Amino acid sequence: MKLFVVISLFLVGCSALTTKQERRFPDDFLFGTATAAYQIEGGWNADDKGESIWDRMTHSNPTVIKDLSNGDITSDTYNNYKRDVEMMRELGLDAYRFSLSWSRILPNGLANKVSEAGVAFYNNYIDEMLKYGITPMVTLYHWDLPQKLQDLGGFMSPLFPEWYEDYARIVFELFGDRVKHWITFNEPREICYEGYDWISKAPQVNATGIGVYRCAKNLVMAHARAYHAYKNDFAPSQGGVCGITISVNWFGPKTDSEEDQFAAELKRQGEWGLFAEPIFSEDGGFPKELSEKVAQKSIEQGYPRSRMPEFTDDEKAFVKGSADFFGVNHYSSFLISATEDKEEYVVPSLYDDVDVGSYVPGDWPTAASSWLNKAPDSILNALTHLKNKYNSPVIYITENGWSTSPGDGLVDDDRISYYRASLESALDALDAGVNLKGYMAWSLMDNFEWMEGFTERFGLYHVDFEDPARTRTPRKSAFVYKQIIKTRVIDH
Ligand code: NOJ
Repeated sequence: MKLFVVISLFLVGCSALTTKQERRFPDDFLFGTATAAYQIEGGWNADDKGESIWDRMTHSNPTVIKDLSNGDITSDTYNNYKRDVEMMRELGLDAYRFSLSWSRILPNGLANKVSEAGVAFYNNYIDEMLKYGITPMVTLYHWDLPQKLQDLGGFMSPLFPEWYEDYARIVFELFGDRVKHWITFNEPREICYEGYDWISKAPQVNATGIGVYRCAKNLVMAHARAYHAYKNDFAPSQGGVCGITISVNWFGPKTDSEEDQFAAELKRQGEWGLFAEPIFSEDGGFPKELSEKVAQKSIEQGYPRSRMPEFTDDEKAFVKGSADFFGVNHYSSFLISATEDKEEYVVPSLYDDVDVGSYVPGDWPTAASSWLNKAPDSILNALTHLKNKYNSPVIYITENGWSTSPGDGLVDDDRISYYRASLESALDALDAGVNLKGYMAWSLMDNFEWMEGFTERFGLYHVDFEDPARTRTPRKSAFVYKQIIKTRVIDH
C-alpha cells in the first residue's frame, strides 16, 4: 500500500511536470523589452538634432505635463546606451524594441539633410546590441514628429505619406543591413485621437471630429507606402519583416445582450479597427459599422458629408495586406455596454462617435495609471479575437506592462503578478492557436511617461532622475523576468 502511494505520488508529480513542460514558451519565441526615443534618449538638442513636437509643446507650455517635466534629458540613453545594452544582457533578452527619433536623423523632417551625428548614435546603439546577440526591433515613429513637419500640417497634410516614405527609405538604407524587424508606427489611435482631437498629447491640434479620421487615413497610407518601399526595394536583399503596432486593449460586452455586443464591436472598431481593418481585413477600408455611424452623425451635425474620408478601390488594394505582422500593445480590458449607466459608469467615453458605456469591475486591480488594470484572460481575449477576425496574422506583443508610483521602491510584487498573469494568458493564446511570436515588456527602465511626466513608473529597472548619472537599478521584477526568459517557463 505504502509503495502504491509512493508510486502514485511519483506519477502525479511526473504528470504535473509534463503539464508544466507543455506550458513552455518555444525556444524561438522572442522575449524582449520596449522603449521609445523621446521617453528615454534625452539629448533633445544634441549635435544638429531638430526640434520635435514634444520638444515644442513641453518647452512652450510646461504646465501641460503633470510634474512640469519634459524629455530633455530623461533617462539620458543618448549618453548611457552602453549601460542600456548591459541591462539587456543582464536580463538575457532575445530582442529589444526601441524607436528612432525622426528629427535626430532628419533635423528638418525632410529628406534633404541627414544628420551624421544622429546616424552615428543609432549605429552605435544597434551595433552594441548585435555584439551580444540581441535582435533589434525598430519602430520608425513613436510620436515625436519633427516640428517643421507639424508646421506644414503634420498628419493632416496630404503630403504626409510622401514625407514618411522618404524618411522610411533613408532609415531602411542606413540600418536595414542589421535591423530585420521594422514597425512603421506605434499606436495610431493615440497619435490621431490624442494628438488631433482630444488635445491630450502633442501636437494638441483640436480638429474635433475631422482630425482623427483624416489623420487615420494619412497614417495608414503612409504605413502602406513604407511597407511597399521596404518589400520592393529592401527586403529582397535585406531579408527582414515590416509591420505596424496598434493598441489593442480588450473591449468585451458587459452582458450577452445584442445591444451590448454591438456596442462592444463599435467600440473595438473605434479603438483599433479604424487602423487594423484597412490593413488586415479581407475587404479593406475603414470598418463598416463605424463608418455608417460617423456618416449618420456627420449629417445630423450639419456637415455636408461624412467626417470620415473613404479609400478609393486602388487605395484599398494598396493598403490591404501591407503588414508581415500585427504588433499589439496590450495593457487593459474594459466591459462595454450600450447604455451609460451613471451608477456603474467608470471610464468616460472620450469621443462622441462611439458613445457607449465602459466599465472596470471593482475586483480588477488597477495600476498607478488610471487606465491600466489587471483583468482575467486579457491577452487571450484580445489575441484570439484578432486571430479569428484577421485570418491568423503573425502577432508580436510589442508592449505590455504595469505602472507604479515613484516612491514605490524596488520590490514591485504587483508588477510581477501582472507580468505572470499576462504571460499565462499569452500561453493560453498560444494553446488556442494564436500565431504569437514574441513579447516585449514595457519597459526596460523608468522613463518619461508623456503627459504624466515621471509620476508613473513602468521600468523593470528603476532610474534615479535626481542623479546626473541616471543610475539604473534592477527591480525585483527584473529578476523574475530574467528567470522566465531563461527557463521559458513561468515560475510561481
Ligand atoms: C503605450 C505607449 O506606446 C508608450 O509610449 C507608453 O509609455 C505606454 N503605453 C504606457 O503608457
